[in-house]
Amino acid sequence: MVKISTSILGIKSNLEQDILKVYNSDTDYIHLDIMDGKFVPNTSFNYEEINNIYNYKKPVDIHLMVEDPIKYINQYIKLNPSYITIHYENQYLYDSIKLLKDNNIKVGVSIKPNTNIELIYKLLPDIDLVLIMGVEPGFGGQEFIPNTINKIKKLKQYMLNNNYNTLISVDGGVNDTNSCDLINAGCDILVSGSFITNSNDYNKQINKLKYM
Ligand code: DX5
Ligand code: ZN
Repeated sequence: MVKISTSILGIKSNLEQDILKVYNSDTDYIHLDIMDGKFVPNTSFNYEEINNIYNYKKPVDIHLMVEDPIKYINQYIKLNPSYITIHYENQYLYDSIKLLKDNNIKVGVSIKPNTNIELIYKLLPDIDLVLIMGVEPGFGGQEFIPNTINKIKKLKQYMLNNNYNTLISVDGGVNDTNSCDLINAGCDILVSGSFITNSNDYNKQINKLKYM
């Protein structure tokens, strides 16, 4: 069964109140988008804010869209997240993977829409999750880029041919019009923000994604 990771990026205004709704929903994970205004042209939460809302009720996956992931990893490992994901396009990629492994945190690597999926193949023995971006990272509420499906299918086929069981996750523009194709293409985890949090009924939206 596909798992859902709810991005809380879109609920900044009522964060303390609405995060409780996410904690109490059927979501499998909470997806935390951390941005520094340099790696992507936007900022989001700081460590203080995250620490204040963190209550361990749901496992957390952290998506670092930052220029200096080492500094952020050293902060966020204190929360004992399920996954910390860094970007393939980051210059500190290999140092970040090592730091996460040394701290027994599961490693995710994310790739932007214009990065070739083949580049990730060599990392598969060393990582736990590939996070394929369905939009340019930086903002919630963008439209899904259709070619993402082909990237997922290609990665899934390569993994089947070579016996890898790294998880495949997709992030950005996920909604009930593409969830069926994403699941059939091989996604294990769907990250979704606005489709869930723009609604009053989070569970209804989560279940639309899960059961297509
Ligand atoms: C985009 C973020 C996503 C985003 C998802 O840079 O990494 O996690 O918040 O939000 P939606 O589902 O609204 O695209
Ligand atoms: Zn994200």
